[in-house]
Amino acid sequence: MNTDYEGCNFFDVIATRKTIRKYTNEIPPLEAIKKIADAGRLAPSTTNTQNWEFIAIYDNETKEKMAKAVNDKYDELKDFVQSEEDKNKINGYKYYSMFFNKAPVVFAIVEKKRISTILSILERNGMTDDLLRYYDNRSSILSMGAAIENMSLCAHAIGLSSCWMCAPLVAQKEFGEILGLNPDDKVVTILSVGYPDVSAMNQNKPKKTLDEVFRIVL
Ligand SMILES: Cc1cc2nc3c(=O)[nH]c(=O)nc-3n(C[C@H](O)[C@H](O)[C@H](O)COP(=O)(O)O)c2cc1C
Repeated sequence: MNTDYEGCNFFDVIATRKTIRKYTNEIPPLEAIKKIADAGRLAPSTTNTQNWEFIAIYDNETKEKMAKAVNDKYDELKDFVQSEEDKNKINGYKYYSMFFNKAPVVFAIVEKKRISTILSILERNGMTDDLLRYYDNRSSILSMGAAIENMSLCAHAIGLSSCWMCAPLVAQKEFGEILGLNPDDKVVTILSVGYPDVSAMNQNKPKKTLDEVFRIVL
């Protein structure tokens, strides 16, 4: 664990973080994993609800159960789609879902059920589902994203690497059962964590330029 992170440059951490999907077998110390969870805890959330839980899974049997659930789900989806082309695309998603069980630690990031005050008022007053969807500003899932990004940056700052994963969520229901969650609470991301396997490090992903994504309204 890099304990010098307090002196590290904030923008450098952002600029050098990248997704890593392969890790060494070294087990990150609990202290480092707690630090990552703590970075999630400190994120902003809608109306400060903090409706999250960060579950760090070291146990291989649990990881394997989760991976099997994902594998089975993708096989179901492959049977469901018709063309070879679609089956191949489903295989691609499966490929990007199926390595988390090899990570030394896997975070299941749980969004706990939260009732939006404004939506419940509108619903109680008879608003249609279509309009309710329009007024849903998705602030709860945005809060989850803020926590996950904090965690991913923190992992990098302390010398670990991670992969933010949504493709495994085809088995979201099964994850809930395996982890003993309340049925109303949902795993919204799997964050695999470990020390990067430098032999398998990929290039930095090309990013759009600032000019492409930024404009000023004066
Ligand atoms: C919301 C979200 C979901 C993602 N899901 C997956 C995934 O299921 N599997 C995977 O291998 N990578 C996943 N990624 C990682 C992206 O592929 C990666 O962030 C992107 O290619 C840019 O690379 P970089 O993180 O190195 O900048 C996900 C990233 C985000 C933000």
